[in-house]
Amino acid sequence: MIDRKAYRTISYGLYVIASRLPDGRKAACVANTFQQIASDPAKVSVSLNKQNATTEAALSSGKFTASVLAQSATMDLIGPFGFHSSLDTDKFDGIEHDVDACDMPCLTQDCVATFSVDIEQTIDVGSHMLLIGSVTSARVLSDQPPLTYAYYHEVLRGKTPPKAASYQGNDSPASGESDATAAESEAAKPGEIRYAWRCTICGHIEYVDELPDDFTCPICGVGREFFERIEV
Ligand SMILES: Cc1cc2nc3c(=O)[nH]c(=O)nc-3n(C[C@H](O)[C@H](O)[C@H](O)COP(=O)(O)O)c2cc1C
Repeated sequence: MIDRKAYRTISYGLYVIASRLPDGRKAACVANTFQQIASDPAKVSVSLNKQNATTEAALSSGKFTASVLAQSATMDLIGPFGFHSSLDTDKFDGIEHDVDACDMPCLTQDCVATFSVDIEQTIDVGSHMLLIGSVTSARVLSDQPPLTYAYYHEVLRGKTPPKAASYQGNDSPASGESDATAAESEAAKPGEIRYAWRCTICGHIEYVDELPDDFTCPICGVGREFFERIEV
């Protein structure tokens, strides 16, 4: 028997993994799977979805940075890195960041530390690639507490997207998902102007005229204040 709830008892931190695509563009994503796996020499690993732009960037450059998010990180910062593609947007635009000695981007805003890693081994683990490497530099950026996965879920009310290694289906009760599906079937008929609400964090569209004050996004979990009204 496998009780899927057991997976939810595993503790993680939250990190922004960044690298550079072959054309020089920056790629970055949120990951909860960065960890130290050996001490001498210091080795780390991260598990990245094969469909992420960041995975392509890391595999092609052979390098990545991992920035440890602080508890001060908000959904405004986490949302673009965790729910959007680096192919569509420069996630670092307007965000404090730096580059390491190898010109790899690294997030510094709301981060407690950042690591630069040379990839030495890759293991295909199905949906994800496990990237293993040596730390070439490490810096402490602040003495704030690091953001934990539990804090992200319980306090920031964040969700886990399908490409995360820890995804197990919708991690909120299915109600949000089915509401959205039902609402989508009420989308505008051709020629008829209707309104809907778009989540500015993850892009989810809720096809209703008005959002209740206590509405939360069924995809990324943010509140009504992150939604903008659009015509459909
Ligand atoms: C809380 C959280 C944890 C995540 N953990 C991982 C992870 O460990 N591995 C992964 O590949 N994606 C993870 N993701 C999903 C990626 O951040 C997301 O798919 C991102 O949009 C990929 O961006 P990219 O295509 O620009 O690389 C996570 C997202 C969130 C919000």
